[in-house]
Parts: sequence; structure tokens; C-alpha cells
Amino acid sequence: MKEEGKEIVLSGIRATGNLHLGNYFGALSKFVRMQDSDVYDNMFFIADLHALTTAPDPKLLHENVKNIVTEYLAAGLDPEKSTIFVQSDVPEVSELYLLLNMHVGIGELMRTASFKDKARKALGIRSDSDNIESEIIGTDSNKRVNAGLLTYPTLMAVDILIQKAHKVPVGKDQEQHLELTRRFARRFNSFYGVELFPEPTNFDFGGKPVKVPGLDGSGKMGKSEGNCIYLIDEEKVLRKKVMRAVTDEGPKEPNSPVSEPVQNLFTLMELTSAPDVLQHFKDAYADCSIRYGDLKKQLAEDILKITLPIRERILDIRNDDAYIGRVLRQGAERARERAAATLREAREVMGIRKFY
Ligand code: TRP
Repeated sequence: MKEEGKEIVLSGIRATGNLHLGNYFGALSKFVRMQDSDVYDNMFFIADLHALTTAPDPKLLHENVKNIVTEYLAAGLDPEKSTIFVQSDVPEVSELYLLLNMHVGIGELMRTASFKDKARKALGIRSDSDNIESEIIGTDSNKRVNAGLLTYPTLMAVDILIQKAHKVPVGKDQEQHLELTRRFARRFNSFYGVELFPEPTNFDFGGKPVKVPGLDGSGKMGKSEGNCIYLIDEEKVLRKKVMRAVTDEGPKEPNSPVSEPVQNLFTLMELTSAPDVLQHFKDAYADCSIRYGDLKKQLAEDILKITLPIRERILDIRNDDAYIGRVLRQGAERARERAAATLREAREVMGIRKFY
């Protein structure tokens, strides 16, 4: 809760769909533990402006914002303990984004890995092609690689700096954005000779980074079909997804190495099942008696123990527009108070002062 002296923790999730187990273990469950530890002044928001960089359908965007707030609350974020808000409810962010962009080079933005990735995808360029600059300059339609995508790191830096946040719990994929945030903060501070923005650091509450694998046999859980378990998934759907998870032909001899798809299921078990349950299946793998069907049944059971109560709360909360409205209004007020103070300081040091 807001209290002088506590370090500010801030994190956000882009409003691009329902939250899945990867979001839950990698972010949300940690946010809740952080909040309940009462050590920090916590702020959690939904990055709807960032979602605009990839041109979502307006109706979908609005739905997604509501879904994520609902899922935040259902997973245990408490508006009395944490500041929960929507990015676009803090217009000060948009103004500071414009101001900070004056101190950001397009070169450094173009070299950002996430920008290159998204630009390559938008242009349909092979993922190993590094020479995207000429392709970007050569395309006629600004819709393909928009300036918002390029300046995504500026906006993210502003989310953080405008609240003067110290700690930003994010995954590895956001590390570079955080590095840029520190660089922008340092540059701004030294250009104007002020100590306006603290340099934020990543931090992992509990100290153990979690990589949540997907169900399709390779890589982490993402929003692709057949790979992803959502907090909102119905019992039947969830069971079906788990039963269809990719495995292999099974161990042929004792103590065989474990293939990636099977290791992924073990990892999911590590996150959701009791230690002796996991050990049982590992032993069964080692002595070749394992039946993947049994493992999956157990895994589905254990995942459901976590997700079903959350799903029930989601269904309750999402019908309560008045409650959601109250939460977000209160969050916006708190977030704006701090943002307005920082923006005032930034304008002042940049020489933007009123004549009336
Ligand atoms: N870029 C982050 C992501 O895709 C979301 C985000 C936007 C964010 N602004 C932020 C995260 C500020 C932490 C702090 O996951």
C-alpha cells in the first residue's frame, strides 16, 4: 500500500488476450505474493496503449482490458493493497512519452530485439535477416511497421519512470527494455542536471525465475492453439488440452534421457503437483513403467486445483461492472497523482512553463 519510504514496484501486462498459466506462474502469482508480503508499494497495470502497436480490433481491445483486470483480481490482487490501473487512464503517460522521445534515438530503438522481431514479422522477412532497415524505409504503407512499434520502449520507460518505480518484475524477454529505461533515465537526468528519475532494476520476487513450458512439445507457453492453458479454461477443455499434449514414444531402456516434450510435462508438474507425485512419475520414467496417459490425468487434476477457483472468481467478478469500475477509478486516481507530480517536474526542467 502507498506509504512513504517503501520502494515502488511496478509491472504491467499488455492487453492482448486472456491470461494463461505462463502469465500466472511467471508474473501474477508473484505479484500476489509480493503484495501480501507488505514490503513494497505495488502498482500493477494493464498496458492497453502498448497493445495498440499491433492494431487490435477496438472492441477486442476493450474486452481484453476488462478480462485482464478481472483476472488480476480473481488471482488475488487486492485493490486495497495494490494500485491496479489501466495505462490509458493516466493521460500524463502520453504526454511524458512525447517529451521523453526527444531524448531517444531512432537508431537505438531500431536495434531493439523486440522491434526487429516484430518488424520482420510484419514485413514477412526471414528471421535470420538482419538488414531490415532498408526494407522498412522502402515500404509505402506506414501501417506495416508503425512508429508506435518503434517507440514501444519509450512508452514502457515512461510507464516506469513516471511512477519513479525502483523495481520492475518482468521476464527475460523484457530485460532489454529495462536496460533502455535505465539509459533514458540516466540521459535525461544528466542532460538537465537533475535527479528526477531513479534507475529501475528487474527483480524476481522469491528469487527463482520460472519458465513455464507449453503443451506443444517445445518452448514456453504462449498464446498459440494447443500450447496454452488459460486461467478461464473450462474443466473439460483444460483436461482435453492436457491429454493432447505432445509426448514421445516412451523410454525404451532404464534411465533414458528425457526428451523436451516430456521434460515440459515434468516441469509443469513441478509447478502444480506435490513433490511426491512428481517423484512417482520420474521414477516410473526411469524404470520404463510410465504411462503418459496417467501422468497427464494427474497433471490436469493438479492444474485444475489451481485454475478452477480462479475461474469461478473470474465468472463472478466479470459480471460486476460496478466493482470493476470502482477498482479502476481508485487505481487511476492514485496512479495519476504520482504521474502528474513527475510530469510537472519534467516539464519544468525542460523549460515548458506557463505564461498565464
Ligand atoms: N512490455 C511489457 C510486456 O510485453 C509490458 C509492459 C509495458 C511493462 N509497460 C511496462 C512491464 C512497464 C513492466 C513495466 O510484457
